[in-house]
Amino acid sequence: MVVVGSQWGDEGKGKIVDYLAEEAHVVVRFQGGNNAGHSVKVGEELYKLHHLPSGILRSDKLAIIGNGVVIDPGVLLEEIDGLAKRGKSASNLRISDRAHVIMPYHRLLDGAEEQLRKGGRVGTTGRGIGPAYSDKAARLGIRMGELVDEDLLAEKLSFLVPLKNKMLHVFGSEATVDEEKTLEEFRQYGRALKPLVTDTGAIVDEALSKGNRVLFEGAQGTMLDIDHGTYPFVTSSTTVSCNAASGAGASPSALDEVIGVTKAYTTRVGEGPFPTELSGDLQECIAEKGGEFGTTTGRSRRCGWLDMVVLRYAHTLNGFTGLAMTKLDVLGGLDEVKVCTHYEIDGKKLTRFPSDLRILDKCVPVYESLEGWEDLDSARLESVLKGGFDSLPQNLRNYVRFVEKESGVRAALLGLGRRRNELLDLRKKRW
Ligand code: GDP
Ligand code: IMO
Ligand code: MG
Repeated sequence: MVVVGSQWGDEGKGKIVDYLAEEAHVVVRFQGGNNAGHSVKVGEELYKLHHLPSGILRSDKLAIIGNGVVIDPGVLLEEIDGLAKRGKSASNLRISDRAHVIMPYHRLLDGAEEQLRKGGRVGTTGRGIGPAYSDKAARLGIRMGELVDEDLLAEKLSFLVPLKNKMLHVFGSEATVDEEKTLEEFRQYGRALKPLVTDTGAIVDEALSKGNRVLFEGAQGTMLDIDHGTYPFVTSSTTVSCNAASGAGASPSALDEVIGVTKAYTTRVGEGPFPTELSGDLQECIAEKGGEFGTTTGRSRRCGWLDMVVLRYAHTLNGFTGLAMTKLDVLGGLDEVKVCTHYEIDGKKLTRFPSDLRILDKCVPVYESLEGWEDLDSARLESVLKGGFDSLPQNLRNYVRFVEKESGVRAALLGLGRRRNELLDLRKKRW
């Protein structure tokens, strides 16, 4: 089963993965890096995961960082340490020897590139993601299997650090990277992580051939995909479901189900187009109630209505077998809730998301207005969690049915709160 975001990230993938992980044997992250921020609330404990798959919180599951991920080893070690201090061991973690390492010069270049961009900043997370993936494609990357080899690391850095320092200079940055210090620092990371670094594709393969269930955890969202998103305002990896196979080292036949995590409204952090974006009091009200501040950078997330052009487009790319609609509780208490059903451009109806941002800029979202529903207080939430779909407020049920009809995908899970159990499972059968 694959779990991916259908919008611009932060849909609530972490919570959904944590919930579904109960039914899995292995959970594997397949792309992205510590640009991701997946918050998972278990009881009163809040976990903020960046590198670690959300399955790490269930100690009986194997958690894997797949070959498609880029890793900042210092950040990963801090995250492992942070969990250990809270009594959660990472002994169930394995890291692909093919995953690429984010180096200090990647972070510096990320910042320098942002300063240089003519068309405006992308608003990256500044974690070095783009430059690390660029080096992977340019065959200048360092893989985890090389990080743990001290001699090879020295050889690679003796070539790469001077090269990257020149690039930084050309990009107008005054920063430089010290080769000796970097070597020493990264050798230490390599020593600490070595026991966890292995051929994780072999583990995934073995699990699948035994008939074990593997959950593929996506980061970011479909509209941030390097090919299909709002380029260039995207991240640097393939975020759609097909990459779950490649990024985990599995065959596409392993991808049986695809859950599209969809926030009941839309958010976006960073720059770039957002057709249904709201402004003013309503945007502030949703942002505040939904706690829409980035898990990674703390930046405010822009908020807007749900966009069916985006969701239908995401379905064509991901092949959703079910939707996990999250944060329905956040819209509670509004008189009306709007959904964008299509765009209009020069008076003509447009139903497919355009690739050209100049065309997108001219698109006018057309909305259908639905009646809002009441807030669910804790007593009502408890009775809904016991009573199931039919005990939800009628207008909330109408909203879910409307989204299902417009997208052509059945709702599998409904998020009604932050905690692990604050969710309705509508699947006919468990995985
Ligand atoms: P991710 O990056 O897709 O994992 O999403 P984030 O963790 O960055 O952002 C989603 C936020 O919404 C987190 O703070 C979650 O704890 C929270 N969340 C997830 N599902 C729900 C839900 O159904 N209701 C509410 N109120 N919060 C939710
Ligand atoms: P999760 O997994 C939301 C956005 C950044 C920026 C663009 C490129 O938590 O959903 P990058 O640092 O990747 O080069 O930045 O992508 N972005 C995200 N937005 N959620 C994320 O991850 C994101 N990861 C990257 O804000 O606009
Ligand atoms: Mg997030």
